[in-house]
Amino acid sequence: MTDTTSTRTERTRVAIVGAGPAGLILSHLLAEAGIDSIVVDSRSREQIESTIRAGILEQNTADLLRRIDPATRVDTVGHRHDGIELWFGGEGHRIDFPSLVGRSVWLYPQHEVLKDLLALRLGAGQDLRFGVTVERVDDDGSGHPLVAGRNADGSPLVIDADFVVGADGSRSVVRPVVTGSSAGGYFREYPFAWFGILCEAPPSSDELIYSNSPEGFALISQRSPEVQRMYYQCDPTADPAAPSDAEVWEALQARVPGTTLNEGPIIQRDVLRFRSFVAHELRRDRVALVGDAAHTVPPTGAKGMNLAIADVVLLAEALRALLVERDERLIDGYADRALARIWKAQHFSWWMTSMLHSTPDASDFDHRRQLGELRSVVESEAGQTYLAEAYTGWPLA
Ligand code: DHB
Repeated sequence: MTDTTSTRTERTRVAIVGAGPAGLILSHLLAEAGIDSIVVDSRSREQIESTIRAGILEQNTADLLRRIDPATRVDTVGHRHDGIELWFGGEGHRIDFPSLVGRSVWLYPQHEVLKDLLALRLGAGQDLRFGVTVERVDDDGSGHPLVAGRNADGSPLVIDADFVVGADGSRSVVRPVVTGSSAGGYFREYPFAWFGILCEAPPSSDELIYSNSPEGFALISQRSPEVQRMYYQCDPTADPAAPSDAEVWEALQARVPGTTLNEGPIIQRDVLRFRSFVAHELRRDRVALVGDAAHTVPPTGAKGMNLAIADVVLLAEALRALLVERDERLIDGYADRALARIWKAQHFSWWMTSMLHSTPDASDFDHRRQLGELRSVVESEAGQTYLAEAYTGWPLA
């Protein structure tokens, strides 16, 4: 434990725990409002830039990146996608976003977003520290919460701030200060996971394919002309190293009947667990949570990073009002405003998940009902529009 009495205390206005998309964008928006911050993360820069995560940016997220970062590669390395294919009954059913809602999404993987954001913030002189272990956040109600921990070299670190933000992911160390415990939330588990691969092969499709098949779910996504990302439904206890490449391809091919996937060497494998979680509280006094620290969604529909960024847009505005204008109204309303969107995204992610996956105990009735649900979506403009609106993202604050 850090002895806060003998360690030199550093001062900042906002201490941000976590240098993911949420923490980095928050530091930028605060700097625009003239509010200084210190961002700390337990990982190294290399780890942050190399962790493979999801890849879809809502229209508003892409627009925000372009506004804050003239050097963003969202339009050069990333690609605009104007639709997705819902695949069932042996054929694809395209949902065309621009004609339904006038918006699109961008396929631009999170680690590329992070490379851009780290370069942007470091280039702007942001105080950003890697390899920092946060051991404690203390908020005694004095208006000066403290963050205590260890620097990368093991020396003690104490930050005295006007506000602390937990942007430190699903295993947040800040969350217990806000919710009273590390669980402290609404929670749901799913009886399946995704087996994810990166492979060296040409794209199998120009757009993402979300498939409901008698064998279960598959998602055919892309990364570049040479590298593709694909997922299929598996048991949550599956060992990513267990199946041979041939078995993985067989599983994928069987889940998109009627297409032929371009196969190639599998260069990475992982198993992604599914959870839905919303913390009971998003703020307590001068400590708030954003992103995965506050909520987790299952990956179907790719809402995670977009939702984190939507939290941050609200919180930045609230912190500007609080710290520059001494107006507490927006910070008092932060949790309710953020939760309105969070529960919509929870519903959408749950809905896409339950419409497309099969549960181990699913009956024939359940499968046929799912096909009826899918037809209700693709054969109705209202159904397609709901999906397109949610997928491309509701307006930001
Ligand atoms: C990707 C991941 C998702 O969860 C999703 O819904 C779409 C795309 C991806 O990694 O490409």
